Amino acid sequence: MSTATTTHGPVERLRGIVPDAEIAAITPLIEEIEELKVRRNAVVLAHNYMTPDIFHGVSDLKGDSLALAKMAAETDADVIVMAGVHFMAETAKIVNEQKTVLIPDLEAGCSLADAVTGADVRLLRERYPGVPVVTYVNTSAEVKAESDICCTSSNAVQVVESLGAERVIFLPDQYLGRWVASQTDVDVILWEGSCMVHERFTAEELRAYRALNPGIQIIAHPECPQDVLAEADFVGSTSGMINWAKTERPRQLVMVTECSMSDNVAAEVPETEFIRPCNLCPYMKLITLQKIRDSLLEMKHEVHVEPEIAARARIAVERMLAVQI
Ligand code: 13P
Ligand code: SF4
Repeated sequence: MSTATTTHGPVERLRGIVPDAEIAAITPLIEEIEELKVRRNAVVLAHNYMTPDIFHGVSDLKGDSLALAKMAAETDADVIVMAGVHFMAETAKIVNEQKTVLIPDLEAGCSLADAVTGADVRLLRERYPGVPVVTYVNTSAEVKAESDICCTSSNAVQVVESLGAERVIFLPDQYLGRWVASQTDVDVILWEGSCMVHERFTAEELRAYRALNPGIQIIAHPECPQDVLAEADFVGSTSGMINWAKTERPRQLVMVTECSMSDNVAAEVPETEFIRPCNLCPYMKLITLQKIRDSLLEMKHEVHVEPEIAARARIAVERMLAVQI
């Protein structure tokens, strides 16, 4: 699920979301980014974990990993600035090779992408001959290239079931893999990877929120451990969680995920009180307005994927995009 930014100007969109004094301070930077976007024929794609100044301000399109991949494949712009992490920028390059893809900070990685290598996938294939490999998009292009199909948190169950196999290898997130296994009859072979942000939530803290706030609703991302997900009223991708909040509009809500999500959605659901356990993704938070401006000004940091790897990775990503959800 993606959201196109509204027709209001970027500064106007921040009113009521970001304090007025802060808006005044960042307005020159936002104007510079808008001018550069026109000059470069560029779009800024923003993940749901970006801070509100980026998410509501300078982004042209925003969403979860699946939406960002689709938007990158479809854009007419010459330049894509990925306000997200490196695997998202690499995926954009894989699906739209002729575009220039920029990531504002090269250090914006992901603990899941670091958890598995192409060599690991080759070894798994030797160990489980004939078993298809389903790979979360939170991986390097090299890992995608060794995989049969990719998935995201919003389509993982449908992707696994689309293969018609009795068993699949699921990489690299053990918790998302366990969540998928709980939703399907397919036998799921897991890997040991985890998200450094979501694995820190505990079932105990969620029970404490419930005890203190009767009637509170809890929604969680499937990268969380199983006992945490067992406490949740809804489990879904980042966009799935945002949509749930906008539809259900509960009196009190805990979003068990990266904490910028609550900041971004709170303005659109004013009647809901957000209780915010604040786990930040240190990689997502490397992306700032200043770095987006610099990336457009100096055309840095351009993301390259070796053509032979990109061609194989594209097959796995496009197979995923063809799965109906
Ligand atoms: P989504 O695809 O749900 O946005 O998740 C991406 C991610 O990195 C969550 O930590
Ligand atoms: Fe990776 Fe977790 Fe950060 Fe998402 S929140 S980018 S999975 S480290």
